[in-house]
Amino acid sequence: MDMDKLVSLCRRRGFLFQSSEIYGGLNGFWDYGPLGVELKRNIKEAWWRDMVTAHNELARPPGAPSTYEMVGLDCSIIMHPQVWKVSGHYDLFHDMMVDCRECQGRWRADHLQSGECPRKPSKRPGEFEKCQLTEPREFNLMFKTIVGAMGGEEDTAFLRPETAQGIFVNFKNVTDSTRVKIPFGIAQIGKSFRNEITPRNFTFRSREFEQMEIEFFCHPNSSRKWYEYWRDRRMAWYTGLGLAEGRLRLRDHAADELSHYSTGTGDIEYAFPFLAEGEFGELEGVAHRGDFDLRSHMEGKLDPKTNPLTVELGPDGKPLYKGSGRDLTYRDEVSNEHFTPHVIEPSAGADRATLAFLCEAYHEDQAPNDKGDMQTRTVMKFHPRVAPVKAAVFPLVKKDGMPEAAKEIYTALKRRWVVFYDEKGAVGRRYRRQDEAGTPYCITVDGQTLQDGTVTIRDRDTLEQWRVKSADVVEEIARRVGG
Ligand code: GAP
Repeated sequence: MDMDKLVSLCRRRGFLFQSSEIYGGLNGFWDYGPLGVELKRNIKEAWWRDMVTAHNELARPPGAPSTYEMVGLDCSIIMHPQVWKVSGHYDLFHDMMVDCRECQGRWRADHLQSGECPRKPSKRPGEFEKCQLTEPREFNLMFKTIVGAMGGEEDTAFLRPETAQGIFVNFKNVTDSTRVKIPFGIAQIGKSFRNEITPRNFTFRSREFEQMEIEFFCHPNSSRKWYEYWRDRRMAWYTGLGLAEGRLRLRDHAADELSHYSTGTGDIEYAFPFLAEGEFGELEGVAHRGDFDLRSHMEGKLDPKTNPLTVELGPDGKPLYKGSGRDLTYRDEVSNEHFTPHVIEPSAGADRATLAFLCEAYHEDQAPNDKGDMQTRTVMKFHPRVAPVKAAVFPLVKKDGMPEAAKEIYTALKRRWVVFYDEKGAVGRRYRRQDEAGTPYCITVDGQTLQDGTVTIRDRDTLEQWRVKSADVVEEIARRVGG
């Protein structure tokens, strides 16, 4: 698939725009247009529904070690700065950066091999004779901001680089305010910010993006089994919504890539079309995090290189970054066992998922135009659950009572879904516009409607058309798109 064609369709049809485009744009920031916002909302809603609200805590899902509960949170983006000191982000969340003194270009050190020299694009940075690259140096990815009016260093706060920490620091609030018992998960969807050195590949690596994260708290003895469950469960979620198995892979980190406190981390990866043949890009990470996070927020920043994990000490022999001192352990009411829960973290990117669904959906095929001649059509084959518009309603012509009948159907559908009404231009062109938007069903009111009360429904993918009674359209669409 040609990525340039998808990028151009996204702009032309209102899926995605560059942020602040009229001022030349801002690198790494994107705006979702009228179709894009519906697509991304549908993806987030599908995730929330499938992971949280529709989860039945009374039934053990296939592959799960036991039943479990799920609840949600919506935490603030700016948190107490100590959160990031204790979590390790303040000291350790950096990439190595290289600058060129000659052209002022800037790259991630590990991206030099895929970058290009601005002065000589046929060469890699550093390969052109005039390049003057600096030594790699650390660059912290957290955006700083100021809280309050004084604006001093002590007022510095950070935009969260992940939603996960909001969940860890609320662990006790959730267990105290609800009746959830381990094992249970806390889910959150929200914005995260990273000052990426080289944002690129459309929305894949952005500076502002949304995450869909679950922190799943379980007993240490069963954590490995829960890790396996979540890895498989999350993989199945993507295929269930239409990502082709052949373009997805689950890459388990090798033993030497794992922190010693983790017994497993796997990345769910997708063969994005902007990557070289055979390469995959991360959609979601599923990590076994042991008790690292809850312990850190109790005791202080843990040094991940220590084994067993110990609190990193400052020059005065005290914790370098103090934890909250609050008790984040858990007591099992049945066994009376007291322990620090282990955490499994399925962490997905809503924008990366949206990009993967856009890439997967893009198709070109041959379809007849109004005169019956075959033409190339561009069609976005979204799964009906994520399709931005579920159905479009057309009167064949703007007379003979057809618009009135079509508007009645449109109004009935609109109570439940995002639908589109269009009476302008040739019907074939109206179909094409909906194909590009990824609308699964088009409903046409024609001469026969006025005689026998039936309309045609056209399937976006097969182009099959069939007639149903106007009064049955809502039920027919509900059966096909759900909801
Ligand atoms: N709490 C764990 C965590 O944040 P991560 O692998 O750094 O882990 C999780 O991020 C997911 O967030 C990634 O798999 C990706 O989908 C998304 N993500 C991370 N950085 C991103 C960026 N710069 N732009 C878009 N999505 C990003």
